[in-house]
Amino acid sequence: MSEGTEQHCLPLSDGNRIPILGLGTSSPDQLDKGVTVKAVKTGIEIGYRHLDGAFMYGNEDEVGEAIRAKIADGTVKREDIFYTSKLWMTYLSPALVRACLETTLKSLKLDYVDLYLIHWPMGLKPSEKDLFPADASGKLLQDDVDICATWAAMESCKDAGLVRSIGVSNFNRSQLEMILNVPKLKYKPVCNQVECHPYLNQDKLLKYCKSKNIVLVGYSPLGKPNLRNLSNPILLNDPELKKIGEKHHKTPAQIVLRYQVQRGVVVIPKSFNPERMKQNTEIFDFQLTDEEMKAIDGRNRNWRYIPMKEFVDHPKYPFHDEY
Ligand code: A2P
Repeated sequence: MSEGTEQHCLPLSDGNRIPILGLGTSSPDQLDKGVTVKAVKTGIEIGYRHLDGAFMYGNEDEVGEAIRAKIADGTVKREDIFYTSKLWMTYLSPALVRACLETTLKSLKLDYVDLYLIHWPMGLKPSEKDLFPADASGKLLQDDVDICATWAAMESCKDAGLVRSIGVSNFNRSQLEMILNVPKLKYKPVCNQVECHPYLNQDKLLKYCKSKNIVLVGYSPLGKPNLRNLSNPILLNDPELKKIGEKHHKTPAQIVLRYQVQRGVVVIPKSFNPERMKQNTEIFDFQLTDEEMKAIDGRNRNWRYIPMKEFVDHPKYPFHDEY
């Protein structure tokens, strides 16, 4: 994938297209001002055209600055870029949806985003200052918002031209069904963005989404190698992935990314390191055999690196169901 190379895309149910490989822009670490700008500019220079962001990541001003700089210097046009943002949990009330999106657009200094997602089906009480509003004892202030009403407000944002496509994230099957069964549904969610990698391959959810023409976008496709939690299995150290990688002269990271694009899953690995950013794009010049795909499927252990345990008692917690 280099400048000028045609992007590998999947069609969306609303007629738009999504590049199958994107650059994640979230970071668990407090980054110095300017780090995101530099990384996103480098990403665009390397050839990324799909950038995955969110209101919650707190750096959309920098992502926007990088996109605008690369438009200004002639590297890309606005229409070459596919930018995703996400509606945060404190804005799920229908009356607040557009406000959150407008804040995003103001930070980006762009007129529209390509894809806007409901970040989580779980609501938190509205708050302008806190992403995670809590009471004096630290308990999160949950809000049980009707996600179908939130969806109708998302549809209005598309009609207003502020966003090209709309979708959801972290929804389980029954939550997707709730939206698909809305009697006056105007637009279907084009995608469901969920954690997805060989240790959580989301086989059943993927089959379901494909049957409804919903694209599955996989976040944390590398198994969050930066998470410093000793109880987590380290995906990129998996011997099977290493073995397959050696055969193809590819790294385990490239193998897990190739695995996803080959099964029709959009991947959005995050890296702010130029070498790894580039390495993660070099996945279109080889193919995994059926046996290798099966062997990688066999590594599944339904392991969530992001179980959101602090939300288990939320009425809309998505991970009680099998999928
Ligand atoms: P860095 O930004 O230093 O490259 P995930 O997308 O699964 O959440 O993983 C993101 C993490 O994986 C980041 O911390 C990133 O670190 C690291 N990473 C990205 N690409 C690779 C790669 N090719 N090999 C190893 N680690 C990677």
